[in-house]
Amino acid sequence: MAIRLGDKAPNFKAKTTTGDIDFYDWMGKDWAILFSHPKDFTPVCTTELGAVAKLKKEFDKRGIKVIGLSVDGVKDHEGWSADIEETQGVALNFPLIADTDRKVSDLYDMIHPNANDTLTVRSVFVIDNNKKIRLMITYPASTGRNFDEILRAIDSLKLTSDHQVATPVNWKHGDDVIIVPAVTNEEAKQKYPQGWREEKPYLRYVPDPTR
Ligand code: BEZ
Repeated sequence: MAIRLGDKAPNFKAKTTTGDIDFYDWMGKDWAILFSHPKDFTPVCTTELGAVAKLKKEFDKRGIKVIGLSVDGVKDHEGWSADIEETQGVALNFPLIADTDRKVSDLYDMIHPNANDTLTVRSVFVIDNNKKIRLMITYPASTGRNFDEILRAIDSLKLTSDHQVATPVNWKHGDDVIIVPAVTNEEAKQKYPQGWREEKPYLRYVPDPTR
């Protein structure tokens, strides 16, 4: 069955480069990002894994655990990891699932047979601390993802979870945010006694409350 936003993220047990895990136990009380790679020893994936390893501190800062997946085995992952370090200048610093039986790929609908029968597409799932799916993106194998964009989206998810606001196009941390339509002007006066910038009755901006 397809996974949708708001669904509970399915749990699984898997072999990874850092040992066997139960996904929920591994997440603990944190948020997580789970992302798939079509195959080991492939060029685009190599650059993506290097980029995520370089950004690991940024995920840590936001309290997000990072886990990748590829349909090859742990031995291959280890060999590939050495190549990633050599070519991208950084070693893998997060676990990579060895999904040789495609169990996790199937559970998370990462194989799109009309794109490829056996390899995963480039899926990303952001899962919150209640194990809810909060964001999903899907790219084809030939297009590398932009992990800066994923961090930006995580900043929005965290902000909009904690405050009754939404983030406008191309928003980044510190930019003005939008008061959600469900908040009436009367309620907004209580929440934002300093007022707001109203471009239309439905388009009301306030400063980023975490700025
Ligand atoms: C890659 O990671 O470079 C890749 C993987 C599968 C198909 C095409 C490209």
